[in-house]
Amino acid sequence: MSSAPPAALRPLEARKLAPVRQELILNFKASDVAPTQLPSKGLPVGSNPPPACYVNNPVVPKHAGYVIRFACGVQTGSLLILPNLKPIFPRPLLIFFCFNMKGVIFEKAGAEPQVVDSLDKPKPSPDQILVKSIYMAINPVDSLMSSSGMLVTSWPFVVGCDAAGVVVDVGANAGSKFKVGDEVCGCTRLGTPGHSPAQEFFLMDAALTMPKPKNISLQQAATLGVGTWTAALGLYNGLKVKLPDLDDLPEEKDKDEAAKDDEAPTVEDATSKAGANESEDSHQTKAEPQKEDEWIVVLGGASSVGKYAIQLAQVAGYKVAASCSASSAELVKDLGAIPFDYKKPLDHQAKEVMSITSNKPYKIFDAAAAGHPLAMEVFKQLPDSDGEGGEKLFATTNDWSNIGDFQGGKAYAIALGPIGRAEAKELNDDIAKYAPLIVGLVEKERVLPNPYDIVGVGGLESVIEALKYQQKGAGGSNKVLAKIQDP
Ligand SMILES: NC(=O)c1ccc[n+]([C@@H]2O[C@H](COP(=O)([O-])OP(=O)(O)OC[C@H]3O[C@@H](n4cnc5c(N)ncnc54)[C@H](OP(=O)(O)O)[C@@H]3O)[C@@H](O)[C@H]2O)c1
Repeated sequence: MSSAPPAALRPLEARKLAPVRQELILNFKASDVAPTQLPSKGLPVGSNPPPACYVNNPVVPKHAGYVIRFACGVQTGSLLILPNLKPIFPRPLLIFFCFNMKGVIFEKAGAEPQVVDSLDKPKPSPDQILVKSIYMAINPVDSLMSSSGMLVTSWPFVVGCDAAGVVVDVGANAGSKFKVGDEVCGCTRLGTPGHSPAQEFFLMDAALTMPKPKNISLQQAATLGVGTWTAALGLYNGLKVKLPDLDDLPEEKDKDEAAKDDEAPTVEDATSKAGANESEDSHQTKAEPQKEDEWIVVLGGASSVGKYAIQLAQVAGYKVAASCSASSAELVKDLGAIPFDYKKPLDHQAKEVMSITSNKPYKIFDAAAAGHPLAMEVFKQLPDSDGEGGEKLFATTNDWSNIGDFQGGKAYAIALGPIGRAEAKELNDDIAKYAPLIVGLVEKERVLPNPYDIVGVGGLESVIEALKYQQKGAGGSNKVLAKIQDP
């Protein structure tokens, strides 16, 4: 353990208890301890000497006591003993008992991740379910949270939010949606104790949980939560794409045919056309009467969010142009979009976008959180939204740069981060609406789960491997998954 306990948490005594396997008794004077200074959980497995500050007496804070951690088979737990409650109780009192579980924690921002076995197993509130964690997917936000503390409500912080597992307990009001044994997936509350899938059991808000689509595996389901919900927010909220009716979906376009469509030139056509137009008036679109928007430009088409955005845009009847690197062009084409290379100079990309979309790139979805400069360049070439033509709309996953409206267009920053929190009512209502749509679209095979790499041999140590694998970019544009345990 690298961090020393604060002075206020100094133990009076710390010793081994013989009959209990490898466990500790920590004797502390709770009156010395300001409750807010108590780290609530997180005794590293097998740590020696014991980090004595890891005691927590939330029940009777004015009394000294012992915390005994015990092992019973594979299960670990905690007992809180308060010997000094006399004269109310004549004997030492066992006052608190809970089973513990394992999880992957960061002690503080920037710390190394570690597996601990002393996390409290949470209880679902009436509108929640308790889920046995089976697979989790790693997202860029996991590194961001653990390195900066952003969105983290308390430390130690258990990493992770993209989950798939099996329901093991159901809150009083959640029974109409889920029952024990159901397989579920989705994005849990970020940075909130008890809600992370990088622990054996975690909480989900029933309204913000998807039943695993019947036609896919639990691994595939773990790729859905963050990616599809972010894509849905960008398209339906930011780009004002009409929510599709599951019972009346537009015909699926043949993906190969889409690439041959007259109005959908190949990237090579578009590139040469862009080159040929180089000297032409950049405001050429003004002359054209605007028809109904039919293109969505996805920046970062190979990213996890981008792949879902391409698919959801097509389900809504749009044609899609998508930026990606040359190595991801085939993948993006296979999804039915027309690729262009984001590594080319900005003006070249802008010309490609204009060319591919026949000068109608009115809806731009920046899935890669890096597309604002290109969108500015493109919108500059379109007439302002004046009721005559299409509305210039930009949605971005970059919610930290305060991108405001620009070039006569409207900007919308997606913010999935506060999901589940009480203050995020509008977001929660939106996701509760989009989640069943996503399940339906996956079951109708109109949205295919993203490809993934599973890292490690399973167990919570694999989460640490997966975090490092994702940070290195070792999976390319594949989603990175870790298996927590068998169902
Ligand atoms: N605001 C929110 O609520 C929210 C929610 C989810 C995600 N996000 C953010 O959205 C971004 C994407 O997340 P993700 O999980 O989808 O990421 P991801 O799957 O890790 O995306 C990685 C891929 O993005 C592509 N890419 C990288 N830089 C690019 C650029 N400048 N232009 C176009 N494509 C680029 C690369 O594909 P190639 O193979 O083509 O190079 C790369 O393989 C991240 O920044 C994430 O933090 C925000």
